[in-house]
Amino acid sequence: MSKYKAQPTGKERFFKDNEIIVSKTDPKGRIVYANDVFLEIAGYKEQEVLEQPHSLIRHPDMPRCVFQLLWDRIQAGDEIFAYVKNMAKNGDHYWVLAHVTPSRDSHNRIIGYHSNRRVPNREAVGKIEGLYAQLLAEEAKHQNKKEGLAAGLAALNAFIEESGQSYDELIFSLESQG
Ligand SMILES: Cc1cc2nc3c(=O)[nH]c(=O)nc-3n(C[C@H](O)[C@H](O)[C@H](O)COP(=O)(O)O)c2cc1C
Repeated sequence: MSKYKAQPTGKERFFKDNEIIVSKTDPKGRIVYANDVFLEIAGYKEQEVLEQPHSLIRHPDMPRCVFQLLWDRIQAGDEIFAYVKNMAKNGDHYWVLAHVTPSRDSHNRIIGYHSNRRVPNREAVGKIEGLYAQLLAEEAKHQNKKEGLAAGLAALNAFIEESGQSYDELIFSLESQG
């Protein structure tokens, strides 16, 4: 848990459609680069984020299973798009559509990860908020963290299956609606 962690204020922050929030991490998810848009919206100075785990901006409303899916995908060398509710230093929050990819060296070994985040589709955020609340509630039913995570993942997979689409198709269809 970071020394900066505030209580959520419930107040939302926004960034512009033409802005991209960028960060890069080492293979363990510690921040090695953050652009000015990242620092501005998250309310941190560069020195405060460098070498910190990316969970620095984790919002407690985010279900753990979403990050499990993210790490499973990028550690396997794949990319992922995900809706993420992030928390600024003062506890305000902001929604992003994150694209996370592995960075490789000339031998194709993963040397870190890279994330670009854009303003998400507002209708999609409304739907995702409901889904994430359900997943979080599912995880919270279990005292044991591992069991909670497994239950969250099972609920997420059930939701994807019910949609009749893959996870990626679901995200893209949410993003292109409205
Ligand atoms: C490149 C990259 C970008 C990430 N971006 C975010 C982010 O914007 N917000 C976030 O909460 N976690 C992000 N994560 C995931 C965190 O590393 C972490 O898994 C997550 O915050 C959950 O933290 P916890 O496992 O300590 O609860 C990112 C990871 C990587 C590799």
